[in-house]
Parts: sequence; C-alpha cells; structure tokens
Amino acid sequence: MAKKFKVVVTRRIPEAGLQLLKKAGFEVKVSPYNRILTRPELKKFVKGADAILSLLTDKIDGEILDAAGPQLKIVANYAVGYDNFKIDDFKTRKIYATNTPGVLTETVAEHTIGLLFAIAQRIVEADEFVRQNKFRGWEPMLFLGTDIRNKTLGIVGLGRIGGEVAKRMRDGFGLKIIYFDAMRNKSLEKQLGIQYTPFKSLLKQSDFISIHVPLTLKTKHMFTLKEFRMMKPTAYIINTSRGAVIKEEDLAKALKAKIIAGAALDVYEFEPKITPDLLKLPNTVLLPHIASASIETRSKMAEMAAKNIISVLRGKKPINPIF
Ligand code: GLV
Ligand code: GLV
Repeated sequence: MAKKFKVVVTRRIPEAGLQLLKKAGFEVKVSPYNRILTRPELKKFVKGADAILSLLTDKIDGEILDAAGPQLKIVANYAVGYDNFKIDDFKTRKIYATNTPGVLTETVAEHTIGLLFAIAQRIVEADEFVRQNKFRGWEPMLFLGTDIRNKTLGIVGLGRIGGEVAKRMRDGFGLKIIYFDAMRNKSLEKQLGIQYTPFKSLLKQSDFISIHVPLTLKTKHMFTLKEFRMMKPTAYIINTSRGAVIKEEDLAKALKAKIIAGAALDVYEFEPKITPDLLKLPNTVLLPHIASASIETRSKMAEMAAKNIISVLRGKKPINPIF
C-alpha cells in the first residue's frame, strides 16, 4: 500500500476541515496543545509533513519549511492575511502557499461595523458602567456618543472586505464613503458609488476611518502620530486588518492627548501584547482578533484550507495560491 500523506495542523480548527482531510485518506495530526506552538515545538511538529495547515500565529519561513523536510508540498494558512509567511522562502523551495480569501469577507465586514457602532455609541463603556452597578436612572448627559448617519467613512484599502464595509455603511446607514488604496479601482468606485481620495485628504475628511489593507512593508506604520494629527479631533479609527499598520505607541499617545476621539481595534502591533495605555483609556474598544470568528465562517475557512491541501497532494494546483 502506498504511504499515506501526512498533514499536520498546528492547532485544533473546526471539524469540517479535519473531516475533509481524513476522508481524503491522509494521516492527520493535530497539535495536542491548545495554544500557540513555540518555535522549537513547531519545528519538531512539522517534521515529515507533506502538508502543513498553519495559523496566522505561526511564523512560517525557510527554517520551518526545511524542518518539515523535502517532501513538503504546501502550507495552507487558516487566514486570509499571510504576513506570517516569508514568501520568498516558499518560492525558492517551490512550496505552495495558500490562504482563505472570500469566505470571511462578509463576516469581517459585519464585525467592523459592530466595532464602529460600539465605539461611536460607547456601548462597551456603558455596559461596564451598568455592570459596576453605577446606573442611577436616566440622565440628560449620560454617555453621549456620536451619530453615524451622514458622516464620512474613509476606507483605507478597498479590497473585498473594504468594499463590503463601504456598501453596507452607505446603503444601510447613509454614510458618505471615500476610500484610499494604492491601487485605484475605478470599476468598483462606479459600482459602489464611492469616491477615491488621496490618503492625506482622506485623513482630513473622515469622521470614521476603517483599515482594510494587508500588512506589507508599504503598509507598516501607515498610521503614526503625523497621520493622527491630520485627522479630525472628533474622528474614530477602526482596525480589523493587522495591528502593525498602526504604530500602536503613537495611537496611544494620540488617544491620550485627544488628538483623535477614539479607536476600536481587533488587532495589535505586538499581538498578544497590547500597549498598556490602550487598556486604561476609556475611548477604546479592544477585541482579541476575532473579526472572522463566526461559527459558519471558521468552518468555511477550515474547509478551504483543507481543500487546498487535498488539491496539491492529489497532484493538482492549489485553489487559492498566494503567488
Ligand atoms: C485573520 O486575521 C485573517 O487574516 O484571516
Ligand atoms: C480580503 O479578503 C480583502 O481583499 O479585503
């Protein structure tokens, strides 16, 4: 009998994906630890794998690819973002890299909108107030927030997710939408009825800014104190992309000095560490990187990663190649 392909999964993911891999006849090994593997653990765990199903918390570079061995054919990331992959190392070794685009678009868009409402209407702060038994009855000035309709939302990065946020906020909630992207997309502009705006001008005009760019050398620290100073003092920033697009230390300074009004974050520059000042400030909403975390979407992501592995181990091309 032919040797079974070995697939290693660096942490438990929804059963739908694991089932597909098992049904395909592979030997599936899921990490026994319910936590992020350390680098030495990861190196040891991938040894002998034909395919690795990785998470965005696993840094995958030449060292890990080599630790797996020359039989390794694919690493399928259980995420749409793949800044945890050192792509050049994949290319030189001719190993496929895949991600999970499309299936999480709407879920992340919905989550982004949830964050926007939470920060504008001070929902989290007010909830905490109630839980602390501080509610003494209706007050004329209690937790005044800001209206959302008719405001200007600046989308930074008009990809799939940015586009879905734009559409929903314009059609559902009556905001004016402007966007900046390094690659202008005129057909999407027309289709969504939204306006391209140079970055600086977007910073100045927006009441809300929502970030939807991938993390690259170009987008790292796209937001520093300088950019916050160009924003309105009443403006809010929402980030569900990658933390390092914002220089977090500068964001904490800007929020403390009231250079901008607030921030709602799902991601952090040095995850899982968070700049301590952000934790103390009332004008932040802070989530633990859960924007794609719906039961439905996480199952679809697991299936998509599995299907990419199945395709490659059966000698075909991956469905969602990164390069
Ligand atoms: C989550 O952050 C993802 O990239 O899928
Ligand atoms: C990610 O799915 C994006 O293109 O926005």
